[in-house]
Amino acid sequence: VLIIGSGGREHCLGWKIKQSPQCGRLYFAPGNGGTSFLGENVDINIKEPKAVANFVLNNHIDFVVIGPEAPLVGGLVDELSKEDVLAFGPSRELARLEGSKIYAKELMQSLGIPTAAFKVFNSSVSALKYLRQRKYPAVIKADGLAAGKGVFVVDNYQAAEEAVEEIMVKKKFGSAGERILIEDFFAGEEASLLVLTDGETIVPLASSQDHKRAYEGDRGPNTGGMGAYSPAPVLEGEIMQRAQDMIFKPLIEGLRKKGAIYRGLLYGGLMIKEGIPYVLEFNVRFGDPETQAVLPRLKSDLLEALVKTAQGHLSEVSLEWDRKACVCVVLASGGYPGNYERGKEIRGIEAAEEDAFVFHAGTKLDEERSRLLSNGGRVLNVCALAESLAEAKQKAYHAIEKIHFENMFFRRDIADKALKRS
Ligand code: GLY
Repeated sequence: VLIIGSGGREHCLGWKIKQSPQCGRLYFAPGNGGTSFLGENVDINIKEPKAVANFVLNNHIDFVVIGPEAPLVGGLVDELSKEDVLAFGPSRELARLEGSKIYAKELMQSLGIPTAAFKVFNSSVSALKYLRQRKYPAVIKADGLAAGKGVFVVDNYQAAEEAVEEIMVKKKFGSAGERILIEDFFAGEEASLLVLTDGETIVPLASSQDHKRAYEGDRGPNTGGMGAYSPAPVLEGEIMQRAQDMIFKPLIEGLRKKGAIYRGLLYGGLMIKEGIPYVLEFNVRFGDPETQAVLPRLKSDLLEALVKTAQGHLSEVSLEWDRKACVCVVLASGGYPGNYERGKEIRGIEAAEEDAFVFHAGTKLDEERSRLLSNGGRVLNVCALAESLAEAKQKAYHAIEKIHFENMFFRRDIADKALKRS
């Protein structure tokens, strides 16, 4: 098995896949400090589908699991299927659900899937003309991939003008900002629902909630995610069923009617408002850090589920979940999500692992493989399972006390929204 990516998500996927009796040799490209203890890290250019396909063929790899969105949008699954290699993830065409926000919104609109009203603009002049006369707040989004940074929530025209300037004039996200979406703003509670689908059957994973802002109380800049927990009470019961009936079923069926078979993981970034789940965005891969909060609760064989999804046999799979709750806290480098520090020695992971799972993200081993160093903005994910969310939270933060690297920071309020609700 080859896992593409280098984050906490990929370490967690590898940890779970390795538990399968069907897993033989495990490779990560490029992997991180933690994955090097689970399998072999290989240095191939994952942006180059042909380079990945060559490695796969030369090393007789049977199955490729793709973590991040960019290789999917770049057509890696298409390249591998040309070589008859089984891969987990959608084709390039369907990866546009994440790769083009305009494509996703237009599809949702045509299928009657609940989502905020929107307009599309191809030029800054026409966008600014519209923004001068619309109501605020509004949401401005670059169409293409922008590493989670292409969404601006603006309260007035001046802020809107700055966002359009960044995206369309200064071209901060390159060609991803050639077109933009301007959407109505929704207030509600966000949650993530990840489902496996083979284009016909849909199997939801356990619900979760991410914490995107850098600081406690949902303040500060957006990040890749500072922590997550599962289950997310806001998405339980009737709402979970509504999310499937109003969002995932019409989408997968609508695509199938057009002859497009979505195979892989589909991530709905949802906003729950007055009991209705609205789609903020779709992602075409596992969430990070949601995966690290969800997979420790999975009792079933993940590798088998992913293989069956990719083969179109998902109807043969049912997933069994631990009733325990999981809380995952991200430990980040000083400066993140701006310019952050690297190369800081990390200590205390073994002691923390007595109580928690520690999934690595931005870490690497030094040349002698004797010291673990920070090597990214999000460095570690500390995840604990317990009978309740409150206990899982306490356990995760207790484990964090044992870990140290210079200028490490983390949010202390992961899961508080759920705890307040209950
Ligand atoms: N946690 C947000 C994401 O995976 O996009």
